[in-house]
Amino acid sequence: MAKSQIKVDYKNVISDVIGGKHGISPSQFRALDKKIKPLISQINKERKAGKTPFRNLPYNKQISRRVNALVKILRDECDDLVVLGIGGSALGNIALDTALRPYLPDPDDKQSKKPNLFVLDNVDPAQFGSFLQYMTRKRLKRTIFNVISKSGRTSETAAQFMIIRDMLIRTLGMERYQKQVVATTDAKAGTLRTIADTDGLETLEVPDGVGGRFSVLSAVGLFSAAMCGIKINQLLAGARDMDKRVSRSNVKANPAAILAAINTYYYQHGKPISVMMPYSYALKDMADWYRQLWAESLGKKLDLTDREVWTGPTPVKALGATDQHSQVQLYREGPNDKLFTFLQVNMFEKDPVIGPAPDCAPELSFLAGKRMSTLFNDEKKATEYALLESQRPNLTILFDRLNAYTIGQFIYLYEVTTSLTGALLSINPYDQPAVELGKEATFALMGKEGYDNFAREIRSKSEINKDYLV
Ligand code: PA5
Repeated sequence: MAKSQIKVDYKNVISDVIGGKHGISPSQFRALDKKIKPLISQINKERKAGKTPFRNLPYNKQISRRVNALVKILRDECDDLVVLGIGGSALGNIALDTALRPYLPDPDDKQSKKPNLFVLDNVDPAQFGSFLQYMTRKRLKRTIFNVISKSGRTSETAAQFMIIRDMLIRTLGMERYQKQVVATTDAKAGTLRTIADTDGLETLEVPDGVGGRFSVLSAVGLFSAAMCGIKINQLLAGARDMDKRVSRSNVKANPAAILAAINTYYYQHGKPISVMMPYSYALKDMADWYRQLWAESLGKKLDLTDREVWTGPTPVKALGATDQHSQVQLYREGPNDKLFTFLQVNMFEKDPVIGPAPDCAPELSFLAGKRMSTLFNDEKKATEYALLESQRPNLTILFDRLNAYTIGQFIYLYEVTTSLTGALLSINPYDQPAVELGKEATFALMGKEGYDNFAREIRSKSEINKDYLV
């Protein structure tokens, strides 16, 4: 049976459908085609030259073999799996879990949600404190911790890890600590690498040159996914399938080129906000993953010639149908400054039938006996219609169904779309100087050696001025 491919439906951005003022005309599409064609071959060349190693992750058998071998040893040892990481070292893990595991455990299948996954991607003391309280000695014995940091120097992850390391050694001893922690980090450099090697921990590698937000298809995302029973081989196969499509030089046959062209066009034509709105609870954290990928990759002060450009579309996540009752009023009647991307699923894993209308409420009989998926996807159509009526451009990523194969396609599609959009905007999508500055400022404020002057400068600017306090 042929495996299903996700599709991009972009009819609702063309001028015939949405009107000349807010739609893209055939001649504008031709101009976009001309602009993006050489950029497709440019990113394909960069890939061949080894400059974008994230492109080759779906083909890296060594990673999946190592992950699967470790999972074989650890999975039965574990009721709870805890990921310590932040940003690109956490969002993909969360997104895969929400997308590919059931919302709640199946009472007839005790393994369906085993292990529980916690991705602790913050240093909120109340949240972390509550987690520590939950970790009784008995639970701790059956918990595997996966600490993830590519740089190995991120304060949030380091702080979490220092608490967990101390707790494990004090409560269960050194040997158990060594057995229950897997460190995912750079192969050679960084503080986490030093700790892992010194303490004798199991390690997984973040491949050289793969940035955090492009790393979900490496051991960063694959280990927690495989521990949770997600078919990582299918995920990678889906990404390989998409790789063929996004490498094509024919723009109309290349979904990443179409998405990048449309997104860049609208960003440069009065629509700086990009809303991703899945009509699927399972995809809600994929929209969060996309939000980071888009924001950190495309939000840049400098272009490739070091000219100040202060560029980047603002990604927003929403959830259908929930946000029809929260955001859609603004989306339809507020400023026409957004491009909308819906994510639609045709067949759901479960699809309850709506019960009969109570005798006292015959006005509800229009719902009775219908599948919930019909209601859900009709709600999507209703939102699409409302937006179209107000000339709001929108497109839809269509999933026949959600599984590891289609999710792998989606991830790879958006990674390559980000590369191409970066090329269209003439910026480097692979660095994150503003994030690094935040990390440095945290070092300074927390008293790291060598940062005294920087700390003084930050403090002088962050003092409260009572004149402006009410
Ligand atoms: O995408 C990125 O580069 C960032 O979001 C990083 O993933 C995040 O800052 C965490 O970095 P690290 O994995 O080095 O701890």
